[in-house]
Amino acid sequence: MQNLKIVDHPLVQHKLTKMRKKDTPTNHFRQLLREISLLLAYEITRNLDMTTVNIETPIENFEAPTLDGKKLALVSILRAGNGLLDGVLDLIPSARVGYVGLYRDEKTLEPVQYYFKVPNELSERVVITLDPMLATGNSACAAIDLLKKAGAKTIRFLCLLAAPEGVKTLNEAHPDVPIITASLDRQLNEIGYIMPGLGDAGDRMFGTK
Ligand code: URA
Repeated sequence: MQNLKIVDHPLVQHKLTKMRKKDTPTNHFRQLLREISLLLAYEITRNLDMTTVNIETPIENFEAPTLDGKKLALVSILRAGNGLLDGVLDLIPSARVGYVGLYRDEKTLEPVQYYFKVPNELSERVVITLDPMLATGNSACAAIDLLKKAGAKTIRFLCLLAAPEGVKTLNEAHPDVPIITASLDRQLNEIGYIMPGLGDAGDRMFGTK
């Protein structure tokens, strides 16, 4: 698959298995998601540009590595994206945060925007878009369309699970956007849920079902 990075770290896979179990209670699910998102954030930031800065240690001067230039913006696709956001913010507390709210039109089945608030100077930032489930890919594509319209040029997509259908749709619409996920699952079922998946991520993290 083009532009897809699967994080196969044992800790990620172990935690994901616990999340998939249908009997895992809401509080454990939320805690596991927070822990996994921190590990995924580590991977999604792996190739950020670096430079050096001259510092003084207690022993001597040193040309030390530091992050270069572009600042980060984290954009959560509501509402499930918020479950990934907390863990990523633990790792990158200085990142700016934006939100994209989309719902699915019952008739056309197309995503419709109801909320959009993002940090300024988006074109200067590495934008990490967050949604735990890349299922059909329609909301991911719609969110990224909006971010590009708002000026974003460097975008990455972080999810917990991806379906092959969603990866294909996103790759075709936005070949410049790398996808980072903990698992590429088998396929979507007839109502658009990922199989084997973990069910409705929003319901499981917020206990709404
Ligand atoms: N959204 C979810 O929460 N779960 C799926 O399996 C697909 C989309």
